[in-house]
Amino acid sequence: MTKIISVTSGKGGVGKSTVSAGVAAAFARRGKKTLIVELDMGLRGLDLMLGMENRIVYDLGDVLQGRCLPWDAVVQSEEIPRLWYLAAPSRTLLQFRFEDLVKCVNDLKEKFDIIILDTPAGLGISMMAVRDLSDYAVIVATPDPVCIRDGAKVAEMMEEMHFSDYGVMINRVSRAAVRKSSIHDLDDVIDGVGAPLIGVLTEDLALQNAQSRGLILPEDTRPSKVFLALSKRLEGIYVPLVIDRL
Ligand SMILES: Nc1ncnc2c1ncn2[C@@H]1O[C@H](COP(=O)(O)OP(=O)(O)OP(=O)(O)O)[C@@H](O)[C@H]1O
Ligand SMILES: [Mg+2]
Repeated sequence: MTKIISVTSGKGGVGKSTVSAGVAAAFARRGKKTLIVELDMGLRGLDLMLGMENRIVYDLGDVLQGRCLPWDAVVQSEEIPRLWYLAAPSRTLLQFRFEDLVKCVNDLKEKFDIIILDTPAGLGISMMAVRDLSDYAVIVATPDPVCIRDGAKVAEMMEEMHFSDYGVMINRVSRAAVRKSSIHDLDDVIDGVGAPLIGVLTEDLALQNAQSRGLILPEDTRPSKVFLALSKRLEGIYVPLVIDRL
């Protein structure tokens, strides 16, 4: 059965697209046919992170406005053949019916083992995507108080929707980030967000550099190992958390 996983956050810019790309690559490397659907309408960015910017012919906007079928808009990675990408429109899609998005994702379901929904900042589309499409939601949070409070709000809203399959991925952990905030350790983040911990990713310059050049990091790097472990945990396979010492 296809598993649909939303990657969400309260605050923007905390690493949702980074986590989406990383965990999708990990699933694909493990042999799962994996699709990332970018829901950031008007703010396409994953094409650059994945090095696919020159290969987009149709995007999600074209699908939602009936100019092509969902499958026509899906692009296969050259680097990781089991990884596929459905790009967000690069200009704002002023009007679309959410039910058409649900139909699009459901139409693609039979072709993939895993679908990752990279949701936009804010609670609108992302919460609907969790409610109407997802089997699991990853809440990405960085160790700062504003982000934790926003993450807690997301968790609270999920509970109100009776959606309880979610966990928190703490991103951009560094000694400096922890020192700067009132957060003393990762337990403060877990308690603050109120969600089980499913992954920890440290601040990583190599990851940032690779992203800006449209490259996916090799499998033997720390971030790739974190994403590999996350992909397994998301399938219910018990693996210890990969946590770097700060
Ligand atoms: N662990 C990390 N180490 C270093 N840089 C990171 C890390 N995670 C994310 N970044 C950087 O942070 C920036 C924002 O990341 P990203 O675009 O993934 O966030 P986002 O949550 O998807 O943002 P938005 O809310 O705008 O969609 C990017 O420049 C990315 O390279
Ligand atoms: Mg993003």
